[in-house]
Amino acid sequence: MTKTSRLTINKSDKISDIDDRLYGSFIEHLGRAVYDGIYEPSHPSADENGMREDVIDLVKELNVPVVRYPGGNFVSNYFWENGVGPKENRKKRLDLAWRTLEPNEVGISEFVKWAKKVGTSVMMAVNLGTRGTADALNLLEYCNLDTDSYYANLRREHGDKKPFGFRLWCMGNEMDGHWQVGHKTAYEYGRLAAETAKAMKMMDDSIECVACGSANIDQPTFATWEKEVLEQAYEYVDYISLHQYFNKKDGSTEDFFASIDNLDTFIDTVSSICDEVKASKGSDKTVYLSFDEWNCWYHTLAEDDERMKNDPWGLAPHLLEDDYTFEDAIVNGLALIKFINHSDRVKIACLAQLVNVIAPIRTEKEGPAWKQTIYYPYEQASKYGRGTALKAQITTGKHNTDIYENVSDVEAAVVLSKDEEQLTVFAVNRLTDEDTVLEVELNGFEGFKTVSWQALESDDMLVTNDADNERIKPVDKTVILENGVLKATLKPASWNVIVLRKEA
Ligand code: AHR
Repeated sequence: MTKTSRLTINKSDKISDIDDRLYGSFIEHLGRAVYDGIYEPSHPSADENGMREDVIDLVKELNVPVVRYPGGNFVSNYFWENGVGPKENRKKRLDLAWRTLEPNEVGISEFVKWAKKVGTSVMMAVNLGTRGTADALNLLEYCNLDTDSYYANLRREHGDKKPFGFRLWCMGNEMDGHWQVGHKTAYEYGRLAAETAKAMKMMDDSIECVACGSANIDQPTFATWEKEVLEQAYEYVDYISLHQYFNKKDGSTEDFFASIDNLDTFIDTVSSICDEVKASKGSDKTVYLSFDEWNCWYHTLAEDDERMKNDPWGLAPHLLEDDYTFEDAIVNGLALIKFINHSDRVKIACLAQLVNVIAPIRTEKEGPAWKQTIYYPYEQASKYGRGTALKAQITTGKHNTDIYENVSDVEAAVVLSKDEEQLTVFAVNRLTDEDTVLEVELNGFEGFKTVSWQALESDDMLVTNDADNERIKPVDKTVILENGVLKATLKPASWNVIVLRKEA
């Protein structure tokens, strides 16, 4: 008999207003993200700044509210001055993080123009690896100040009369990682982040600062790192970062789908640490979470290590170009569901990354730009996932995988739009060999009618898209709504987006 899951939605059962920045992304100077990615001056679609319009169009469809820039590991030895001013004077430098040549043809000003064109804001990162507070202040003055002072004047000389006005600043990147240039202990980093954020806010009190949390939940210093960093920096920062990449390793598809539950533990643990430090300091400020790197990342790890080792210092090498499968798209859908359900605490999340490098958008040099499988859950969550997260009270079956026990069959999130006229149910059936009937009971939604149900479905978990063939894209389905109960039969391993609207 087909299994059934029952979802109850009460209009008054709210989790939180969702911060639009939950649907952010990330562009790092890495591989072909910038060069031969967003920027390819000789491409037929390039604009006057060398930015590819075909890529801009695909980014616009995603409606990305914020893009983290310029790294990532790259930022920890980035000298931003090399990327501003007349292009002919710009120095080529070596990027140690990815063992690549950085031509500095794209820098802050070019990126800001691109960001304006795609309609996004910039989440800027400062180098706390090989530089520190003084440089962060110079950069902030260059970017945000309208004063008659050296760096603000330099920006004007470079042609940007108005400040860029970046509101959100990352205090370095993954400083707990031994791989990071300028890696620090928690105490060293906590002090530096505190003093840098403090001084930056003395210069511009409108900014928000993100302290580095752990590079992933498996870091040996996880939790003690967050505790120490916050002990030092609590009063000066607004968010602490979380990063997590999902790796299928040798497990089955079911294991891969179940592994995402780890996000609940990660988010809950970091939230508790924030609150513990808040209580111990008697602070009335809450530090929120910025999940500013997340995605599947595992297909190209060995190849990338090989390339960086044996063929370093090239320009725009093919690095981290994971070809995403159908099951990766489902995993990302599950992650988005988790973020919505934790939106009371997670205010920012960035799909890492956006173009070519572990990305939903891929470009061919001199050729087309195309959508990977993971493009769609992200696009649909960004489109339908804005407003208020409502509690998804679900009664669903449980199953065991080779590695995990008591895994829920169906995961769901529910979002009521800002105008309260649209309700969206996101649901994933994690069973890989069985349909599940999803029954949704709606309370407080008189006059709402289903308008669409779109799904990602496939019998082949490993199928990918490419430039010529978009094998994975949403398909339209038909849903039944009778007496306030909606019924949808979810295919095995499927991502589903059911939209209801209030009738005029
Ligand atoms: O997104 C790729 C890399 O992953 C980033 O540079 C780094 O922050 C993380 O380890």
